[in-house]
Amino acid sequence: MNTIITDPLEASRREFLKTTTKTVAGLSVLSGINLPFVHAAGSDEIRTALIGCGGRGTGAASNAMGVQSRVTRLVAMADVSKDRLDASFEGLSKKHPDRMSVSEDSKFIGFDAYKHAIDTLRKGDVAIFTTPVAFRWVHFKYAIEKGVNIFMEKPICTDGPTARRLLALNEEAKKKNLKVGVGLMCRHCRVRGELFNRIQDGEIGDLMLMRAYRMQGVIGSVFTPRRDVTRNPNELLWQIKNFHSFLWASGGGFSDFNIHNIDEACWMKNDWPVEVQASGGRSDRGDNVDQNFDHYSCEYTFKDGAKLYLEGRTALNTHTQFATQVHGTKGSAIVSTAGHFPSKAMTFKGQNMVRSNIIWRGKQPEPNPYDLEWQDLIEAIIKDKPYNEVERGIKSSVTTAMGRAAAHTGQVVRYNDYINSAFEFSPNVDQLTLDGPPPLVADKDGNYPFPKAGQFKDREYAMEPQANPFPLIQFPPEAAPEPLSPPERPKKPAAKKPEAKKA
Ligand SMILES: NC(=O)c1ccc[n+]([C@@H]2O[C@H](COP(=O)([O-])OP(=O)(O)OC[C@H]3O[C@@H](n4cnc5c(N)ncnc54)[C@H](O)[C@@H]3O)[C@@H](O)[C@H]2O)c1
Repeated sequence: MNTIITDPLEASRREFLKTTTKTVAGLSVLSGINLPFVHAAGSDEIRTALIGCGGRGTGAASNAMGVQSRVTRLVAMADVSKDRLDASFEGLSKKHPDRMSVSEDSKFIGFDAYKHAIDTLRKGDVAIFTTPVAFRWVHFKYAIEKGVNIFMEKPICTDGPTARRLLALNEEAKKKNLKVGVGLMCRHCRVRGELFNRIQDGEIGDLMLMRAYRMQGVIGSVFTPRRDVTRNPNELLWQIKNFHSFLWASGGGFSDFNIHNIDEACWMKNDWPVEVQASGGRSDRGDNVDQNFDHYSCEYTFKDGAKLYLEGRTALNTHTQFATQVHGTKGSAIVSTAGHFPSKAMTFKGQNMVRSNIIWRGKQPEPNPYDLEWQDLIEAIIKDKPYNEVERGIKSSVTTAMGRAAAHTGQVVRYNDYINSAFEFSPNVDQLTLDGPPPLVADKDGNYPFPKAGQFKDREYAMEPQANPFPLIQFPPEAAPEPLSPPERPKKPAAKKPEAKKA
C-alpha cells in the first residue's frame, strides 16, 4: 500500500497526477467512487482520512465535513476494531451522504491501518488522529513523511520522552510547511478569545489565581473491572478499549480530561507553570483494576508566583463542577461556566462573581468550537497561512502530565525536569501487533500496578527504570527561576534516646 503514492510532497503535480491516475486504474482502493484526479492543493476538494473511528474521531470527521468554505471529503478510515469503524462509517454516511467517499477498500483494520489510510491522501489533504494519545507520535511521524496536513486530538503526549520526540518531529513538519491542528478546541472559541484580549488589556488586572475544576461522575473508561479472559481474550485490544484505565495508553483520566481546563487557565495567564505539587488517591476503586486515582488536587506555580489550582475527580454521588475561573488584582473572570461550550465567559469587578459586578459578558449564542477549529485549519490550508499548534499542544500536554506525575509520585515536579525526564510509559508502542502483548501485562490475578505516592520518584508505578532516550532540551517556560519550593531544611541531629529507666 505504501507504494500507491510514493511521495506526493516531492512529486511535481504532473508526476503526481500520473502516479495517482495509474494507481487508481490498477488498484481497487479508490474504485467505485468519483474523486477528482487533481492535487488537493490545486483542487476544490480537501480529502481527509480518519485514524481512530471512535466517539471523537466520528465527531472530528463530521466537523471536518461540515466546513463550508471548501468541499471536504472523507476518503479513508482506519481502526484496530472493525466494529468501531463500521459504526462510525454508518453514522457519518447518514449525516454527510454527499461528502462521504469511503469505499470498502478504503477501510483499514490493524496497527498499520494508519499507513494505508494516510497513503490514500495527497498534498494539501488532512490526516485525522483520534486514537488514544499513545499512538500520536507514531502516526504523526508517518504523516510528516508523506507530507500531508494533520489534525490530532489532545493530549498529544503524556511523558517527557514523547514530548521531546514530538518536538523533534514537528521541526520536520514545519520545514515541509504542513498545517497541524491540535484538538484544544476552546482555543478557537471566539468569546474566550475576546476574554483573553480583555485580560491582556488589563481589564481585571494581573492574574494571580486561577481555578480549574473537572469534577464528575464515572465517565469514559476510568473504572475497569478485571478482564474476563473468555469474553476479552486479547489483552491489548481490551486495554485500548478501556484506554482511560491504562496510563501507557492515555495518561489516565487525568491527562485525558483535565487538559482543557488547565490549558485555558494557562492561556488566560499567557504563560506556563514552572512547577506543581499535588495530592490524590484511590478512595474507592472496588474491584476495578485500572491505574487511576479517583481524586486529584494540584497546585501549579508560575514564574511570578501566581497559582493555578486544579480539582479533578471521577466519583459517584459527589458534587460535580466543570469550570475555569480566574482572579486578577482588579477583578475576576469566568473562562468556562459548565463544560466546553458555550463558555458564557464574563468579567467582573472585584473577586465576587455576582451579577451586579459584571463588566462584560460574551455574546450569545456562541459558535461551536469543534466546528471553529476545523474552519480555521481549512482556511489556513486554502490560504497557505502558517498554522502549527504542536508546540502549544506539547506545553499543554506536559503541564497536564506533570500534575498527574506530581500526584502519582508525591513529589514536587518542575516543568523542565519533567520534559527532560527518562520515564516513558510505552517506548515500543510503534511495534505493537494485533496478536502481541500490551506494554503493561496483568499479573496472574489480573491486577496491574497502580501509582502509590511516595513509592518512586522517577516513575509513576512499579516498572523497570529506563535510560533517557533523548538529549536534554530547554523548552519554555524558558526563564525558569530558581526552584520556588522551599529549600530542604538541614536535618536536625537525631534526638538522643532517653535512657531506659532501671528497674
Ligand atoms: N477535544 C475533545 O473535547 C475530546 C473529546 C473526546 C475525546 N478526545 C480525544 O480523542 C481521543 C479518542 O477519544 P475517544 O473518546 O474518541 O475514544 P474512543 O475509544 O471512542 O475512540 C478511539 C478509537 O481509536 C481506535 N484505536 C485505538 N488505537 C488505535 C490504533 N493504534 N490505530 C487505529 N485505531 C486505534 C479505537 O479502536 C477506537 O475506535 C483521545 O485522545 C481523547 O482525549 C478529545
